[in-house]
Amino acid sequence: MSVSRRNFFRTLGLGSAGLSTSFIIGRGQEAMAFQAGTMPLPDDGGMIRISSNENARGPGRKAMEALQHAISPRVGRGYPPDYTGELVDTIAATYGVNRNNVIVGTGSGPILEAGVRAFCTADKPLVTAAPTYGTPDGTARRINVPIKMIPVDRALSLDLDAMAAAATGGGMVFLCNPNNPTGTAHNAAAVERFVRRVKQASPGTAILIDEAYIDYVHDPAVKTAVPLTQQLPGVFVTRSFSKAHGMAGLRLGYAIGQPETVQAISRAWSLGSVNTLTAAAGMASLKDPQHIAEERAENARVRDFTLQAFKDLGYQGSDSHTNCIFLDLKRPASEFRDACRALKVQVGRDFPPFEKTHSRITLGTMDEMRQAVQVFRKVLTAKASTSSAA
Ligand SMILES: Cc1ncc(COP(=O)(O)O)c(C=O)c1O
Repeated sequence: MSVSRRNFFRTLGLGSAGLSTSFIIGRGQEAMAFQAGTMPLPDDGGMIRISSNENARGPGRKAMEALQHAISPRVGRGYPPDYTGELVDTIAATYGVNRNNVIVGTGSGPILEAGVRAFCTADKPLVTAAPTYGTPDGTARRINVPIKMIPVDRALSLDLDAMAAAATGGGMVFLCNPNNPTGTAHNAAAVERFVRRVKQASPGTAILIDEAYIDYVHDPAVKTAVPLTQQLPGVFVTRSFSKAHGMAGLRLGYAIGQPETVQAISRAWSLGSVNTLTAAAGMASLKDPQHIAEERAENARVRDFTLQAFKDLGYQGSDSHTNCIFLDLKRPASEFRDACRALKVQVGRDFPPFEKTHSRITLGTMDEMRQAVQVFRKVLTAKASTSSAA
């Protein structure tokens, strides 16, 4: 059991709904599967962890109350599908779809893995981007599925034309919208054009649209692709509770698509067994859109502060629709990361093909970012004075 989980249960056992509990639940482990072994998990002892696109503020008040309420002898019962049925109904009602359009998992990560396993084979490649979220290509590598990695364009956006061209005959296309780590997003019209173009040229190719960060989007033209999933077989959207809902430590995600599509995904790989506390918190959070609006506003405030601090130092970041920023710091990510880590700030891993120039920084709390910015300033100006002296 991870340190966060131990703390989570210990703190809940004390009956506290304070900031520290929310904080702990919001911290999960992004992409443990492919980060394992490359970056040791910190013990948080004085370390500012802004490396894994977790949510430093944790869940909203209503989700916290639902969690506390759910801690009762009733947890002695709860084998699926009894309680997950209610969760699935709540998700379906949120989007106006039927319960057989929805599957849930212990995070959206297992669903991404299942998607690759369901639709890709040795002669049906995965089409993905570089850089983008790594679970789909990590899975493809493990099961020997060929991968077509399409570099992002000069604006760091997914190159939809090149991805569509590569998709013909493919098993599945992974479209991360907004994209992690670049933070870029495509509007609903562009996504629909892309999806229809792929399906027309290659009807058997599945399309996974990963909307883990969509609650952070600040352009109203960027919208969920859930309506498209109802029209086209093999097109599905995944969502995560680990980002704006602040529940990475509780592990909850879901997918929406046509019944045959989501059943094929379910059959391909275990999606885990969602626990009763998580289901209760997830339902409460879905019914609390006001909290998500507040979370989006706070994330934007922290993003603008952090981007401005980098701008003042002479570095421009991309316009992010996520809870991270991706910056050209004109030095290897490993060099910046090691220097920050020595000063107790942990920033993101390498993102090829940008590992020689760009770093990803997750947006923490405003307090964390105020402290982190001082460290960034120290690291970036120290480097500048060394090289100008050289
Ligand atoms: C784009 C994207 N999709 C999916 C995930 C997986 O999230 P989870 O398994 O916590 O739902 C992440 C995690 O960082 C992500 O960045």
